[in-house]
Amino acid sequence: MPLAITPTRATLGAIVTGVDLANLEDAEWAAIERAFLTHAVLIFPGQHLSDAAQINFARRFGAIEQLVADREIVSISNQRADGTLMKDDEFGMQLLRGNEGWHTDSSYMPLAAKASILSAHVVPSAGGQTEWADMRAAYDALDEATKARIATLSAYHSLYYSQGRIGHKVAVGSGYGFHTDEPPLRPLVKVHPVTGRKSLFIGRHAYGIPGLAPEESEKLLDDLVTFACQPPRTYSHAWRPGDVVVWDNRCVLHRARPFDHREARVMRHVRVSGDPASELAVQRDRIAH
Ligand SMILES: [Fe+2]
Repeated sequence: MPLAITPTRATLGAIVTGVDLANLEDAEWAAIERAFLTHAVLIFPGQHLSDAAQINFARRFGAIEQLVADREIVSISNQRADGTLMKDDEFGMQLLRGNEGWHTDSSYMPLAAKASILSAHVVPSAGGQTEWADMRAAYDALDEATKARIATLSAYHSLYYSQGRIGHKVAVGSGYGFHTDEPPLRPLVKVHPVTGRKSLFIGRHAYGIPGLAPEESEKLLDDLVTFACQPPRTYSHAWRPGDVVVWDNRCVLHRARPFDHREARVMRHVRVSGDPASELAVQRDRIAH
């Protein structure tokens, strides 16, 4: 069966079949890379990749961002290594609960992520989908007054802020994303480094727009997320074991959907670093207040 790229009915996302990601031909990779830039989310059903194959596929997109020292792939799961399930008040579960809010990966780091690759290993009997929202189409759909209002605005991005909003207070040094409390500042409107398309760079980690009162900033950012994450700009994927998805963190938001935590959900995740030329946040000493 030849490679087939079938767009979803949303403004983002395509289903890719007829390819074995563990044995990619160069011509297939070229088609996948083009489709990634066009559709921003690519869903590859039934790949059943080994960790090594998932890491190799991620390397096609760029350097790997290591979330844990000495590990290029991590589990995103409510199941511990010994097979038992986490309790709802555990640190890891609080992070999973945070993932249920619309976000883009590593926007709270000095260098935001380019791409994320997720594979499903164990899925719950209901819920646990992942959804993506198209921030290119969202920007295009804004009225001209809003486009003008946000054109020069930036927001800080912080995992302390986003976890704090769901009631999870975290101390410095508690884990990935909690190394320092110095938040990066990023423009609300991002220009894609390859396609040149403008998109909204927002999500749950964004807060504290300089020049706006905190409540005004929070309302604007919440309103933008609410507007942006609506059909036809959203796509939901119900996972089956073996599915692989890659998405472009530079122009989409994503979130996990809830599921019954008495069941296991085991996903394997590799994150690809952004290009410092386009994903490195503004340095504090370059910020003009
Ligand atoms: Fe995420």
